[in-house]
Amino acid sequence: MQTTVADHPLIAHKLTLLRDSSTDTPTFRRLAYELTTLLGYEATRDVKLESVQVGTPVGIASGVRLARPVPLVVPILRAGIGMLDGFSSLLPEADIGFVGLVRDEQTLLASTYATRLPEDLTGRDTFILDPMLATGGSMETVIRMLADRGAATVTAICLVAAPEGLARLGTAFGGEVPPIHVVTGAVDAHLNQKGYIVPGLGDAGDRLFGTI
Ligand code: PRP
Ligand code: URA
Repeated sequence: MQTTVADHPLIAHKLTLLRDSSTDTPTFRRLAYELTTLLGYEATRDVKLESVQVGTPVGIASGVRLARPVPLVVPILRAGIGMLDGFSSLLPEADIGFVGLVRDEQTLLASTYATRLPEDLTGRDTFILDPMLATGGSMETVIRMLADRGAATVTAICLVAAPEGLARLGTAFGGEVPPIHVVTGAVDAHLNQKGYIVPGLGDAGDRLFGTI
């Protein structure tokens, strides 16, 4: 597994605002959008392309377009929805799938309550959106779903990751999975006893969409 910590100054600046508990929900949503565009730029660096030619007003230009089949992006509900508009602004041609997961607050195990994915992902680049990589259980579940459907690559984009979650993903898969790349804005110190990232930013879903 490859991990990229995208430590661009603008990412560090916006992430600091995002973490601040005095940041209100509208600002939090805007920052999540902006951070996803910056992280998404890094995460799509190796997206598959194919050659095309276009006619310009004065000649023929050789260029590229996204390879077919187009990539699939999967926000993990709920909080991943807060990253979808930002990612779609970069890659509007991508198809969108959905997986709904919720962590049990006692056991920290993620359970699936919704799945809407293509059955066959053969040859496709795939991207997973989730602001928080904590224990890594949610991300591991979705990576397995995409790998089982034949995805060519899996790139997970997170705003904040915990070392525990990265370590888990690093050992969770055997040889039969596609290349996995995690792109994150920061790797924080550790998880607390309730499975929250420290210092993190709290409950990303609640900060985006309200407390359940
Ligand atoms: C949060 C977060 C991740 C998950 C990370 O979701 O958005 O999906 O926890 O934790 P993990 O790495 O330990 O699995 P939550 O279950 O709180 O649901 P929500 O997005 O609906 O708020
Ligand atoms: N989910 C969150 O929203 N925040 C954390 O710190 C961990 C899991």
